[in-house]
Amino acid sequence: MTTRREFLGSLAGAGAVSIAGQYAFAQGGMNILILGGTGFIGPHLVQYAMDRGHRITLFNRGRTNTHLFPDAEKLVGDRNDDLSALKGRQWDAVIDNSGYTPQQVRLSVDLLKNTTDQYLFTSTRAVYTDYTQAVMDEDAPIGPKNIPEAEWDGYGPNKVLAERIVQDGFGAKTLITRPPVIVGPGDRSDRFTYWVDRIDDGGNILVQGDPTDPIQFVDVRDLSEFYVRLIENSITGIFNTEGPGSALSTAGLVHGIKAVTSTPSAFTWVDWDFLIKEGETPQDSLPFWQPPRGRYLNYGRMVNTRAIENGMTFRPLAEIAKDTLDWHRARTSDEQDKLRVGMTRDREAELLWKWQDA
Ligand SMILES: NC(=O)c1ccc[n+]([C@@H]2O[C@H](COP(=O)([O-])OP(=O)(O)OC[C@H]3O[C@@H](n4cnc5c(N)ncnc54)[C@H](OP(=O)(O)O)[C@@H]3O)[C@@H](O)[C@H]2O)c1
Repeated sequence: MTTRREFLGSLAGAGAVSIAGQYAFAQGGMNILILGGTGFIGPHLVQYAMDRGHRITLFNRGRTNTHLFPDAEKLVGDRNDDLSALKGRQWDAVIDNSGYTPQQVRLSVDLLKNTTDQYLFTSTRAVYTDYTQAVMDEDAPIGPKNIPEAEWDGYGPNKVLAERIVQDGFGAKTLITRPPVIVGPGDRSDRFTYWVDRIDDGGNILVQGDPTDPIQFVDVRDLSEFYVRLIENSITGIFNTEGPGSALSTAGLVHGIKAVTSTPSAFTWVDWDFLIKEGETPQDSLPFWQPPRGRYLNYGRMVNTRAIENGMTFRPLAEIAKDTLDWHRARTSDEQDKLRVGMTRDREAELLWKWQDA
């Protein structure tokens, strides 16, 4: 039995490497169970793993994108209370994309811990208590400060509790990733897509904050490829998975997107405080990044060194922007017209007018 202290100690440097996964890969592919697999990350991950010769089993309720992957084994159940389809089965690795609550993760960990070599849990950047540490690496504090654990609730705190359950069950065979906003073709959150769509429309574009504000995100295909690489090489540990590979400012982001569009456009940078006073909200009507101050001081400066040292790579912004734009322009006109985040063109024009007059 590995204690949490021993487990964390084993992760202190980079990921630990064993030969079990490499052996299974060399023998003609690994047996990989994916909890989820048909939402956003799932389809990219499953396709990449299958292209690499792995045998995939999907476990979900059979509701989302059921037409996908007719050649994969599909097991049906509900993470909340029915894992019977997984009983008595063995896999080389499990990738858990669909665990949000400690209760869900406890059920799958308890069932799989004695039969599965590796457990990769998709956690989130939201586990960190705040983003004020000078070095925001995987050892930065996680979980809410000053709130008794029994009262923890919500997305980030539940992921912290779920991470612990995986660590307790799988010990040194645990893999945890803490992705930032995941972008790319298929991303229905529209946080990155808003910018691709807006810049492609052209004209005078309101951009919140300061051009030097830092920004981080990860392309879904880079994340998926990293997952498969980690498993093939039996690498374990906890990984921040922020891209891109080197520092990017919000000016770099919008000009990088502009480079793959052809409609004339110009950017007007509008102060955070002005916009917030006008009733706008970061991550909602002002999508994709936070003002780099207060608890979000280093939110855009997470340290991804460990992931890079263990094989994570990042495709160029131009490729992400072009592929996202192509995917977005192929959506229904209703989906293109009603993005989940961002402001209307009328509101943008009104704010630009007020800002220039201020
Ligand atoms: N998007 C981001 O920016 C972001 C950032 C950081 C972390 N994450 C993490 O990424 C993960 C989500 O990724 P994704 O949606 O792209 O994953 P996915 O694996 O592509 O899709 C979610 C899957 O979960 C299944 N599912 C949902 N509820 C279920 C239940 N009760 N029982 C069994 N299966 C269930 C769905 O199928 P059925 O509906 O058919 O059951 C679907 O296959 C989450 O862990 C999230 O915390 C996302």
